[in-house]
This record gives sequence, C-alpha cells and structure tokens, in this order.
Amino acid sequence: MSQYLQDLEPIAREAGALLMSYFDRQIKIEYKGDVDLITAADRASEKLIVERLQARWPQHGIVGEEGTRSDTGAEYRWLVDPLDGTTNFAHGYPVFCVSIALARHDDQLEVGVLYDPTRDELFSAERECGATLNGKPMRVSKTARLAESILGTGFPSHKRHKNPNIHFYQQLTLRSHGVRRAGSAALDLANVAAGRYDGFWEFNLNPWDTAAGVLIVQEAGGKVTRFDGTPFRLDSREVLASNALIHQELLENFREIFAGRGLEPLPSPLEYAKSRT
Ligand code: IPD
Ligand code: CA
Ligand code: CA
Repeated sequence: MSQYLQDLEPIAREAGALLMSYFDRQIKIEYKGDVDLITAADRASEKLIVERLQARWPQHGIVGEEGTRSDTGAEYRWLVDPLDGTTNFAHGYPVFCVSIALARHDDQLEVGVLYDPTRDELFSAERECGATLNGKPMRVSKTARLAESILGTGFPSHKRHKNPNIHFYQQLTLRSHGVRRAGSAALDLANVAAGRYDGFWEFNLNPWDTAAGVLIVQEAGGKVTRFDGTPFRLDSREVLASNALIHQELLENFREIFAGRGLEPLPSPLEYAKSRT
C-alpha cells in the first residue's frame, strides 16, 4: 500500500467515527438552501479532516464542501466531502460516508478514499494501482446488458424543479432491473466499483461528491464519462459511471432520452385504474 493510502485511510476512519458519534442523536438541522441541509456533524468532520491533512501534507491545497479553501495554486489539492448524504444522516437513515480525494492541478486524480462508517466499509484507490474494499481487491460487475442491470441515481437539493432527471429515472427504470436512489452520490459510485450497481448517473454534482468515487470506479475496471460520452472532468458536474460493459448502451439511451424519444405519455387515472383490474 502506498504512503498516501496508509496515512489517508485512518483519517477517513476517524472522521467516520466522529460522524457516528453524532448519528441517531437529536441533531439540529440548518439550511444552506431550500432543502440543502447542514449539521454540526458536517462541520466537525470537515474540521477534523482538514486539520489532519494540513498536519500531514502542509504543502497541499484543500477544497472542502463546508467552506475550506486553501487552494493556493499548490500542485496538489485535496477534495473533501466531510459527510456525503447529509439529508439521510439528518433523518437517521444510515446511508452516508466520508469522501476524500487528491487531485493534481491538471485535475488528474491520484488517490481516493470513501468510508461508510455504518457498514465499516473503506473503499480506496490509487491511480494505476487498482481499487480495494477493506483491503481486498475490488472489481466492477460483469453484467453485459442494460436490461439485466441494476442502476443508481440521485436528485439534487437545489433548483430541484429545473432538474430533468425524473425522465431519465422513469425511462431507465423501464429498461433495467431498476434504479435505486439512495442519497449519497459518493457511495453510489463506490457501489458501482464494488459491483453492487452496474451503473450510476447524476446531474449537477460537485467535485467533492465525485472525485474519490470516480477514481475508485476507474481503478475497479469501470468507466466514467459525461452524458455524451466525452471524458469526465472534475468540473463536469454530470457523471455517468458504469461497469464499462453497459456504458455504450447507457450512452445510446441518454441520447434517446435527451432527444425526447421513447417518452410515452402517462395514462389517465381512469386508464391506470382499468389496467390494474
Ligand atoms: C448530496 C448527495 C446526494 C446527491 C446530491 C449531493 P451532500 O451530497 O451526494 O446523493 O443527490 O446532489 O449534493 O449534500 O449530502 O454532501
Ligand atoms: Ca456531497
Ligand atoms: Ca456533504
């Protein structure tokens, strides 16, 4: 294991343990936006991670979701989501994680770690060194057809009414074994890497949501692009990740859905009731 992972994994675990110490307690919810939540746990986790990263790698920049900006033109910068899945966390729903990644100034991803403290699962990857789950090598699934796949997606907490994802959700639900919406984009990516999902997509993500998970998927043998098949970049916002085998089929479906093809009108309530008898 590289020095990076050796030093980074305990930091992710420590932050995860800190989150668990707040979980299931009555926690005060604050609002960053309409339904964009933040809790004391988000802030405490970011503080801990930033302190540890700065102590170990003082020469690196840090960009944290909850406000840390020490990106002073350093060659490397850390991208930190101290709690991905805040809405779940705040409601006591145990699907959330810590996400930390290291990127070079040209956005090349070097190292990524995701820790899910509710299941004690640590997903790690380093560029060109493969991906692991709790220290064991991890690979994407072997599902070769969209029709036999299980997928994940997510919906944003701001500008919700402008998000077209419900159309994709509907169409891809009809064309696969189903689409899950678990509420942590980082864990969704980890689940693609671990072969539990065959694919995942989402509109409007931030680099701290995606950085670690994207590298982990790629190192587990998966593929990550934008919705038109062009390479994923940290500032892409949209992400389409898969086990690589169903990627082309997913891209074709995205093209069709964007073009408005395959969208059938909804049945009237009467037609729907009749169809159930
Ligand atoms: C959110 C989660 C969620 C996704 C949202 C993200 P947060 O991150 O990843 O699954 O749908 O777009 O903002 O706010 O819980 O760190
Ligand atoms: Ca997030
Ligand atoms: Ca977060």
